[in-house]
Amino acid sequence: MANDASAVFDARSPAVSDNPLADPFSPPADSALWRKNFLLGAATASYQIEGAVNEDGRLPSIWDTFSATPGKVLAGDTGAVACDHYHRWEADIDMLVSLGLEGYRLSIAWPRVMDAAGVPNRKGLDFYKRLLNRLKEKGVTTFVTLYHWDLPQHLEDRGGWLNRDTAYRFADYADLMSRELAGTVDAWATLNEPWCSAYLGYGNGHHAPGLADGRFATQAMHHLLLAHGLAIPVLRANDPASQKGIVANIGRGTANSDSAADQRAAHLFEVQHNAWILDPLLKGAYPQDLFELWPGTEPLVLDGDMQTIAAPLDFLGINYYFRTNVASDGGHGFREVPLEGVERTQMGWEVHPDGLRDLLTGFRRTYHNLPPIYITENGMASDDKVIDGHVDDTQRISFLKRHLAAVDQAIKAGVDVRGYFLWSLMDNFEWAFGYERRFGVVHVDYSTQKRTVKRSAELVAKFLKERGARV
Ligand code: FCB
Repeated sequence: MANDASAVFDARSPAVSDNPLADPFSPPADSALWRKNFLLGAATASYQIEGAVNEDGRLPSIWDTFSATPGKVLAGDTGAVACDHYHRWEADIDMLVSLGLEGYRLSIAWPRVMDAAGVPNRKGLDFYKRLLNRLKEKGVTTFVTLYHWDLPQHLEDRGGWLNRDTAYRFADYADLMSRELAGTVDAWATLNEPWCSAYLGYGNGHHAPGLADGRFATQAMHHLLLAHGLAIPVLRANDPASQKGIVANIGRGTANSDSAADQRAAHLFEVQHNAWILDPLLKGAYPQDLFELWPGTEPLVLDGDMQTIAAPLDFLGINYYFRTNVASDGGHGFREVPLEGVERTQMGWEVHPDGLRDLLTGFRRTYHNLPPIYITENGMASDDKVIDGHVDDTQRISFLKRHLAAVDQAIKAGVDVRGYFLWSLMDNFEWAFGYERRFGVVHVDYSTQKRTVKRSAELVAKFLKERGARV
């Protein structure tokens, strides 16, 4: 799939030099990107970059177990070493700062900072304290995600997100972290992409812990959202000055035809990808259409849970990657109908910036209480190679320009978007796809751990410098 996808693009893409899209960061004068308070940063996640999985008292996570299981991750890759960021964090922060990036979104590895009895692990905590203190010293705005999928294995052994108790353990973890790190975090996100944790982790088994049952997915989602809702007041009490929110991945679904059945299929696709998460958070109820799609999967919800989940948010993090074209499956559901001749990335994902704009403007109409938005992830994978010390990631440059333009259009249409984080600062462990898929704006040579700034990052840096110099 990777080769086919890049072949499609190569055939259609002009060279950088004669590509009018080549410089993504010379937006029109009226673009919101020029505003100095529009935050531009980059994102990473603990398991994808840290490595050092057995060091300083870190306990195993579900991703250690899953990636060590044959057949689960491409080429048998694991996060055991990853980008060795645990040892190279200082140089990595210097690199981020030298690119002029103003924000850094990172995540904390829960199994690094507390044990099964809830006892804090000082060495693990100190790692994050050093990192965040350095970022503050350098003037970088810090977005910290508490859960980017690396659940401690000992919690999975007791049922993981199928066990309601995990939500309470998460609130304890949020309590510890916000007491320890208060003052160094500008924005806390409770969860990264609960859709992936619940659906890929418990619904189809593509991610850790690898369970596959529709009812598991909805119950895991409920406990994830409950964990979020329990953590928000804890974070507010311990660290009042910071912003509190959550990060959701969103998917654009478009209909393969004008038929009512296909239109309904596209609607159900978006219910499954977006409303399943956003409705409970912003309306305090699950969308009933979800259970038309997946009959008999209603989760067990206790009195008061939905109020807990709908705790007011200071911001909503949005991760956007692609759109999916769907048709009716002839029954109550949808099936994907891949479009021919469209631009795709190394993941095979369709490049469709309008989807981001259309979803954002749609959310503004649907949710009267939509909080301020940060695009907490956007980017693409390409098969990048270092040639003569350079990485010319043409497709990414064009991708970023078009998605930033889509964000600007959403802002002009009235959506309150306050910032944008590139996924990712550097190439890393791309979950079930291992190291083959490169999402970074910095290239990582995994045999030497050498970092090479890609052309896309150079252009971001150039833009930020230009913006900073403006009066
Ligand atoms: C998102 C994840 C992130 C990364 C990107 C490509 O779903 O949050 O960790 O893997 O996809």
